[in-house]
Amino acid sequence: MSDTRLVRVWRGDADDGELVDFRVEVNEGEVMLDVLHRIQATQAPDLAVRWNCKAGKCGSCSAEINGRPRLLCMTRMSVFTEYDELVVTPLRTFPVIRDLVTDVSFNYAKAREIPSFTPPADLAPGEYRMAQVDVERSQEFRKCIECFLCQDVCHVVRDHEENKEAFAGPRFLMRVAELEMHPLDVADRVPAAQDEHGLGRCNITKCCTDVCPEGIKITDNALIPMKERVADRRYDPLVWLGRTISRR
Ligand code: FES
Repeated sequence: MSDTRLVRVWRGDADDGELVDFRVEVNEGEVMLDVLHRIQATQAPDLAVRWNCKAGKCGSCSAEINGRPRLLCMTRMSVFTEYDELVVTPLRTFPVIRDLVTDVSFNYAKAREIPSFTPPADLAPGEYRMAQVDVERSQEFRKCIECFLCQDVCHVVRDHEENKEAFAGPRFLMRVAELEMHPLDVADRVPAAQDEHGLGRCNITKCCTDVCPEGIKITDNALIPMKERVADRRYDPLVWLGRTISRR
């Protein structure tokens, strides 16, 4: 069963752009990426849209539909009613390159600021068995496909370019949390989480968790536990006393 829908797609570049209307065929079972490909095939061959796997695993096809960050390849057209306007725009938090393609290099720069996994220097291969609970915690965080929808939706940077330098964003604060909670990582990541990666700017509105296509509980399982570690370190008098004595 096919239908015809009006789809409004943002077209332009870093300097200027506008919504362009396309009336396009939509078939049962299709996702928004199918519809954009049909627009490319029949009406606008130069429409720029980034994608790769069409299976929700590469994280390339991130954009916004009606203002909500989504994966184009995982958004079924059937989730919209016939009364919904369909407006497809590029990720708002990152600079536009062309049409629906944005420059997400901010995220790669933030990734490079996090020191890598640091096991004990004297640990030989096979000497340590991880508890299942530690395995499962890492596995949840490792489901991240780096689509950067969480980075896009986060209000700390979404409308505040000036915050980008001091804030790593939920994806990379989650990476810091993953390493901090890893039983074999010996680096102390708590001070940097607050002072260098901007954890204190997060006010746990859970927008990041809400848009994560992998269903990772970013706020509950990564950001809040890191905030608790910062609070323990800085404000728990017993922890403070213990660390002060142990440093002597
Ligand atoms: Fe790979 Fe959509 S094309 S996640």
